[in-house]
Amino acid sequence: MSTLKALVLSGGKGTRLRPLTYTSAKQLIPVANKPILFYVLDSIVAANVRDIGIIISPETGDEIRRAVGDGGRWGAKIEYIVQDVPGGLAHAVKVARPFLADSPFVMYLGDNLVGDRLNAYVDLFQGDKADAVILLKPVGDPSAFGVAKTADDGSIIRLVEKPEKPESNLALVGVYIFSPAVHDAIDRLKPSARGELEITDAIQELINHGCTVRSRTLDKWWLDTGKKDDILSANTVVLEEYTTLDIKGRVDKLSQVTGMVGIGKGTEIVNSKIHGPVLIGEDVRVANSFIGPSSSIGSQCSIINSAIENCVILEDVQIEGIDRIEDSLIGRSTKINRNNSNHKALRVMLGDDSRVEV
Ligand code: DAU
Repeated sequence: MSTLKALVLSGGKGTRLRPLTYTSAKQLIPVANKPILFYVLDSIVAANVRDIGIIISPETGDEIRRAVGDGGRWGAKIEYIVQDVPGGLAHAVKVARPFLADSPFVMYLGDNLVGDRLNAYVDLFQGDKADAVILLKPVGDPSAFGVAKTADDGSIIRLVEKPEKPESNLALVGVYIFSPAVHDAIDRLKPSARGELEITDAIQELINHGCTVRSRTLDKWWLDTGKKDDILSANTVVLEEYTTLDIKGRVDKLSQVTGMVGIGKGTEIVNSKIHGPVLIGEDVRVANSFIGPSSSIGSQCSIINSAIENCVILEDVQIEGIDRIEDSLIGRSTKINRNNSNHKALRVMLGDDSRVEV
């Protein structure tokens, strides 16, 4: 069998993460201060797959190219494939056909984070000479995903994309392994009701043609980072799993650091409490503040006289004099400060589609 390649899907529009995704690709939103897409590439390379194609859109493709580069940082070879329109996950595979040629491949959605290593699934694919391996995970809101109905022996009876009345709670995780047989299946597809070529339909088509499709339920966590609260949960899970005590910056004597906390170089913590798991980037200034659990703060931020908990804060954000900010996702170079007059009105400059709860 020819060697396994990987196809990472980082096109699409990211409408559910506006306004952040007006200026940035959703796959580059950081979780624990690292872009989601970088976790995807780490996971692929950890499964020994080094020939990687990344699907990009004309709108956000350049930003992804700049952030990821040629793959040298992962010891991988990366090729970029432009998908002119977000025509669906199976459409992306069609566009990538020249790159994939006749190789089997891992397909990984660039906004999915998976706690499991992929190696066991690659072994299953190769050992069983399968045409597809799909991963499933029980979820509370299956109608937001592709859903699998399985038989008692674990074999798949039916797959339906975002069903109104789900037949099970087993969602399709955005990581798949395919043999080249998937290309013929995709060629036979018609666009779905939402006008896309669905990978879920392509897998159903493989099943209908008697191809070997294996499924496994993920052991560990899976996070689809499509919406704000998903990013916050992903941040919590990743911080809890990976943060270690690692203080490169300066913490003054009046400050208290408890739990797992990472503080980047050039960062100064003055008269503040940091309660982990927390990750703070480089050249950040925190003064007279509280940074509570599950917070990631990007580089070059400044947090003064404020309390923050369960937040993802991107780079170069300034927060001053705010009693408490919680459960928030704050985009780059945002400024939030208290106006010191007794005037109670809120003064804002917000981008399109911003969300503010007061
Ligand atoms: O996250 C798992 C779910 O992903 C599965 O359960 C569904 O079966 C599958 O269809 C998919 O659903 P989503 O609606 O979440 O897919 P989304 O449109 O968010 O796209 C997923 C990734 O693929 C995202 O990084 C953008 C990229 N993409 C998407 C489309 C539609 C492309 O690169 N090209 C595209 O045409």
